[in-house]
Amino acid sequence: MAPAPHTVKIVAHVGDSPPRPDGFAKVSGSATYVDDIKLPGMIHGATLRSPHPHATLRGITWNPKLVDHGAVAVTASDIPGENGVLLIDDEWPVLAEGIVRHVGEPVALVAAASRLDAHRALTGFEIDYEPLAPVLSWEDAEQWESLHELKLDRGDAQQALACADRTIAKTLTTGHQEHIYVEPQGMIARFEDDGTLVVTGSMQCPYYVHRSLMHALALPRHKVRVIAAAIGGGFGGKEDYPSMIAIHAALLSRAAQRPVKMIYDRHEDIVATTKRHPALMRYRAGYDKTGRLEAMAIEILLDGGAYRTLSPVVLSRGVLHATGPYRCPNVQIRARVLRTNTATNGAFRGFGTPQVIFGIERLMDAVARDVGIDPLTVRERNVVDVGDSLATGQVLDASTSARECLDRVAKRSDYRTRWAELERARSIRGDGEQLRGLGLSLFLHGAGFTGRGEHRMRSPVTVELDNNGRILLLTAQTDMGQGAIITLPLIAAEAAGISLDDVRLVNPDTAVVPDSGPTVASRTTMVVGKTLARAAVKLRDRVLDWLVEREETETTRRAALRRSLEVREGKILDPNGAVLGAFRAIASQCYDDRGSLRLTVHNDPPAWQTFDDKTYQGVAYATYGWGANVVEVELNPDTLETSPVRAHVVCEVGKAIHPGIVRGQLEGGTLQGIGYGYLEQMKLDGGRYLNDRLATYIIPTIKDCPAIEVEMLENGWREGPFGAKGLGELPMDGPAPAVAAAIENASGIVPDAIPATPERLLRWEMEHQVVGDGAPQSEG
Ligand code: MOS
Repeated sequence: MAPAPHTVKIVAHVGDSPPRPDGFAKVSGSATYVDDIKLPGMIHGATLRSPHPHATLRGITWNPKLVDHGAVAVTASDIPGENGVLLIDDEWPVLAEGIVRHVGEPVALVAAASRLDAHRALTGFEIDYEPLAPVLSWEDAEQWESLHELKLDRGDAQQALACADRTIAKTLTTGHQEHIYVEPQGMIARFEDDGTLVVTGSMQCPYYVHRSLMHALALPRHKVRVIAAAIGGGFGGKEDYPSMIAIHAALLSRAAQRPVKMIYDRHEDIVATTKRHPALMRYRAGYDKTGRLEAMAIEILLDGGAYRTLSPVVLSRGVLHATGPYRCPNVQIRARVLRTNTATNGAFRGFGTPQVIFGIERLMDAVARDVGIDPLTVRERNVVDVGDSLATGQVLDASTSARECLDRVAKRSDYRTRWAELERARSIRGDGEQLRGLGLSLFLHGAGFTGRGEHRMRSPVTVELDNNGRILLLTAQTDMGQGAIITLPLIAAEAAGISLDDVRLVNPDTAVVPDSGPTVASRTTMVVGKTLARAAVKLRDRVLDWLVEREETETTRRAALRRSLEVREGKILDPNGAVLGAFRAIASQCYDDRGSLRLTVHNDPPAWQTFDDKTYQGVAYATYGWGANVVEVELNPDTLETSPVRAHVVCEVGKAIHPGIVRGQLEGGTLQGIGYGYLEQMKLDGGRYLNDRLATYIIPTIKDCPAIEVEMLENGWREGPFGAKGLGELPMDGPAPAVAAAIENASGIVPDAIPATPERLLRWEMEHQVVGDGAPQSEG
């Protein structure tokens, strides 16, 4: 049998694209996902869920006689700790108590010998509900108390709007989006003989799960251990919900005194887990006759679903991206998360940004039409450059590349000429002719935690010399498919001058790794990678110290020798360039002599990153990734079905540590964003999802995927590892407004809501939500 590719020695540097160490296991099917794990004596859990969107829960009766085979039942009264999933707060109930607030809310749990038995055993419960009127519309939700509110003021937006040459108002809405990670949510819980709870499963953030288990199970931190299994995608959906299912599995394991596995099927996963927040945005803009922005007043409403969970932070990111990559001296933002009787909405790649980028980008297109210029020109006149300020007052540094992205994408797609031709073509097209259009978007994404978030965490990472002379990287960062497993070792190896083979990322296990923070917010490469680079250099230096200490010479000579040693390409070199040995071999000798070396380094975020949580002024993000898209679509004139045919993607990522991985992120994020724009729709009726299956919740497949042409720009950020910025969420932000703009260019219909489905396009056409034919004059 040929050796698996990961056994081949890899010589690679930052900027190369060596294969992922887990790639062979992933493509051959041997990787161990949570459902592949079987433990002796393990039984299976199932969840009884509310059929009502809103109801008083008057009583729960468990009647084991109704169950054919034995089963163990758990309700809220069996929770030893707090009945709340601890995220920002613990308002999200582990199991409903007294009231249910959405269809699918967990009410009770059972465990039985098989999954089928467990699902059958759910009939052993009798629940007494008294239905209440649900809140399901924006109008009703606006009457309720908000889950969270934020505001931002810069200059005097109302005054500037009153004085502006021209103004425009637009109301825009975006819908739910479901993550559709490869494997649905799943966890296995067991208790060891000493009472330690061990939970293994699919998750982004082992320490989030760890903390919420301590809270709900009333256990001290050393009695809880959380281990990440192989993960087939998270997209934010495995940021918040894994805490819920982990607690459920743990409660059942505690009651049954056995290991318990809980795995959702796709249907249950769609019904029960978090989605992207729908948004309703009211934008007003004031500008001069040439389309230069003078004022924006923006109201953002997010549908938080039934419980608060991470919504305050999603709203925060929405506020901070709502003005897009544009200069505007007067800004007023009022933002609220509203409560509705639908499943909780939570983290999803982009985290509030894709919604507001849809808002600002559709607004910019409307401003362009109003003053008679093309969409490229209006962006050229307003785009931020180095030295400009955002609405937070943050002055943009040298790593600001919005204009370059815009120029590159326009050039690659021949945007200005082709857009104008297609505008003119609308008026002269014959019946039944396929419609074609181009849409442009420009966007930014703040990398890492907002404001002082990274300062509060000062995330530690640990590095350790193993018995083979390798440096182990111990972090809480999971590889959910995004490539941490190869990107982080590349950074550490390059920083220390050692070979990629001399470094290994350890799979997260809270008994072993420090809490280096959650795997979210596009922070892994940029923030944790930077800290690992410092740690790897420190550990390498300890090995060099040991090497020199062995020399039998006087102290000053030793000190001089130590200063002159270099490590390059995995070899230790003396001042004359002679090779003293391979780092790995010498590190292995060091291990023989001293045993394992281990050290911990904390992230040291830039001191200049100050931010005021009250006024929303300051440096909201240490740096930003920048991007521009041109999406080209065909529109069937009879059915109004959209087919994306091509997407030009230009993103500035600081430094592409592993260009293969970066390209994968940019392509995948773009397709996910395109699907969000025209295809993916959660249909709700009376608080119930109508299309809660993959047969009916449609995401783009290979057949729907346009040709995606990616250009990675590098404008190294001085504080990033080798200049890298976080980029995982960036490509998700821009495609949806570009798809909408392309539909407008093709048909004249103005999509102010996504997904822009054929049904909606037809309605807008009949309601005359259309623009005239003919291209405006451009001064390009
Ligand atoms: Mo996320 S949406 O920062 O996992």
